[in-house]
Amino acid sequence: MKKIYLDYNASTPIAPDVSRAMQPYLAEHYGNPSSSHWAGAPAKAAVEKARSQLAGLLGCKFSEVVFTSGGTESNNYAIKGTFFALQDKGSHIITSQIEHPAVIQPCKFLEKLGAQITYLPVDARGLVDPDDIKKAIKAETILVSIMHANNETGSIQPISEISKITRERGVWLHSDAAQSVGKIACDVLELGVDLLSVAGHKVYAPKGVGAIFIRQGIELVSFMHGAGHESGRRAGTENVLLNVGLGAAAELAEQLREKSASCELRDLFFDDLQGHFGDRVVLNGHPTKRLPNTLYVSFVGKNGSQILQQLEGVAASTGAACHADSVELSAVLEAMQIDKQVGMGAIRFSLGRATTRTDIKAVVEMLKNVVSG
Ligand SMILES: Cc1ncc(COP(=O)(O)O)c(C=O)c1O
Repeated sequence: MKKIYLDYNASTPIAPDVSRAMQPYLAEHYGNPSSSHWAGAPAKAAVEKARSQLAGLLGCKFSEVVFTSGGTESNNYAIKGTFFALQDKGSHIITSQIEHPAVIQPCKFLEKLGAQITYLPVDARGLVDPDDIKKAIKAETILVSIMHANNETGSIQPISEISKITRERGVWLHSDAAQSVGKIACDVLELGVDLLSVAGHKVYAPKGVGAIFIRQGIELVSFMHGAGHESGRRAGTENVLLNVGLGAAAELAEQLREKSASCELRDLFFDDLQGHFGDRVVLNGHPTKRLPNTLYVSFVGKNGSQILQQLEGVAASTGAACHADSVELSAVLEAMQIDKQVGMGAIRFSLGRATTRTDIKAVVEMLKNVVSG
């Protein structure tokens, strides 16, 4: 059985260059970056190099990058850290209904502590309307948290437009860029964000590492208390090995920027499906403002999980959980108000560096055989 991996939005393999960069830190350089002797120096230099590599990809200052354990921690830090830092100003946070649980759940948690959260709707293509943000901001608003690109649809939110509004109103803007970093440009100056989350394992670095961009001048309340690591912003001895991996992955992503931006294979995939299935296959998400690797399609009236089960060797994701007598759509499809007949047939194919034309053609042929009627 040939294995075809089309689930790069779930996780990516560690790139060979990244793995090579990490090797010396598995055995040779074991010192603590905080130690001032010969063993600490190379570890410290490695973490600082990784920080500059990531700063290069995000277009920010070296000192504005804090390493974390992943996208979830970065989102938690941004949201809770703002809540505790700006309690004197207010406790109103604006987010959207299609955020990842790593944003929604910290917001739900803060609601229990008295925060007021506005969960904005999205349109049928999964986009937030900046005007809704403008209308929702009030004197007590402390944070707007809108993801850069959605993990299911790949739809890209108008972050630069949103940041013009938040700047004008003096509200911090956080964006969960777990899915966009390495796939499209994520220059924090162009985006105008104050806080931005990065997840290593979506960008060919290992799992369990990430980072948060914290704009200079912003002071979050840290939730890891201990020694003064990461300039006092995240206590705990630096994870040298994984940070090196993320740094190398960031540099590689910068080099491969042009290649990653190509929509060619994704569009070929959809064209081939449409050529065969016509209007029995529909696209979920925005037709153009979308990650170049993400194809979220629905086979109308069919069951996405059942289709996927029959695609032997193909790794992809579904957008609905089908139980004995009911279909539960993902929160993203629900928010987009996608019809159940469409939503239940949703499959997300997410392409990556190793995906070939042959893979796509093979999956299309399998789908032609599996999806009948
Ligand atoms: C949009 C988004 N945010 C956050 C996360 C969580 O990142 P991590 O797995 O590094 O905690 C993910 C991972 O699926 C994601 O897709």
